[in-house]
Amino acid sequence: MQEILSQNYDWLRALHIISIIAWMAGMLYLPRLFVYHTEAENGSNKSATFKIMEKRLLKIIMNPAMMAVWLFGILMIIANPALFDGGWMHVKLLGVVLMTGLHMAFAKWVKVFAADENVREAKFYRIMNEIPAAIMVVIVVMAVAEPF
Ligand code: HEM
Repeated sequence: MQEILSQNYDWLRALHIISIIAWMAGMLYLPRLFVYHTEAENGSNKSATFKIMEKRLLKIIMNPAMMAVWLFGILMIIANPALFDGGWMHVKLLGVVLMTGLHMAFAKWVKVFAADENVREAKFYRIMNEIPAAIMVVIVVMAVAEPF
């Protein structure tokens, strides 16, 4: 198993990066939809459209992409367990756990909007829109520069 993974390591890394791009696209777009959704009247056509967009983005793109990122990331660590010793990997994985927690919060807010129960203002979701971007910068710098 480890040998097969090592032989196909660059394929794993390529698939890891492809799924990261899809996951991050959703993590940066979904809170933007929440911002606009706060301005739509409950029960309006506009609100109904946002509900469909949010649910599809989460279910069809973000959930599978997140699982693929984890899968290919873990397979690379199985192929090369020494990677786990690097300080950069520890900081990176802390960032990934935070990103995954944020994903779960976004999933909960999709349900809150679907039930017309959102009470938060657009400003809250604008701030939430910045957090995945900041975490992503830290993760990518750790993964590529491996500073320590
Ligand atoms: C979900 C858990 C994750 C695990 C277990 C994981 C693990 C790994 C491993 C083992 C590598 C190969 C490192 C190497 O060969 O030097 C890697 C590469 C990479 N990871 Fe992750 N990763 C995860 C999530 C993420 C996320 C969320 C991002 C970005 C937001 C990310 C960005 C990258 C990048 C850019 C590379 C390529 C580095 C290079 O080729 O120089 N990873 N990851």
